[in-house]
Amino acid sequence: MATLRIGVLTSSDTRAAGAAEDTSGKALIELSGGRGWEVVAYHLVPDDADRIAAALVQMADDDGCDIVLTTGGTGLSPRDVLPEVTLSLADREVPGIGEHIRAESLKITGRAMLSRGTAGQRGSTLIINLPGSEKAVRESFGFIADQLEHAAEMMAGGGHG
Ligand code: MTE
Repeated sequence: MATLRIGVLTSSDTRAAGAAEDTSGKALIELSGGRGWEVVAYHLVPDDADRIAAALVQMADDDGCDIVLTTGGTGLSPRDVLPEVTLSLADREVPGIGEHIRAESLKITGRAMLSRGTAGQRGSTLIINLPGSEKAVRESFGFIADQLEHAAEMMAGGGHG
């Protein structure tokens, strides 16, 4: 298995405006590097569907990301649109990832039920929504990281070996 190519997207009006540091996106970059994966793209965008979509398409179609990890925009706020944008771009949904993140997260906080995060496959790129806080990102990454190399192998047409 070649080194995973990772894209990171943070969706946050405040962080995109420079009003707060993007600790969540930075955490994803750090955690991915810690797995020996190559972070080939990073986008910090406002909670704007068109801006988010453009970044996701670029990472999937142009940058050749195997996995795109998004943080933020999965909740109930009016401008939380990551799940909808993800599914609008995906060839197919991968519901088990969001289900697992919520199931494990609910053991930590009941507020995990308020995340609508999901995942979708676009070509051979898997886009995965994580919640917005650095704490949630670190917890959620830990729940899914072990499965991502296999996911990439499967998307590339590999078997279960
Ligand atoms: N999941 C984990 N593992 N840890 C958390 O702290 N925060 C919850 C939830 N999921 C949380 C979590 C909270 S408070 C909210 S509002 C939802 O994620 C949505 O967060 P988002 O709108 O930043 O995506």
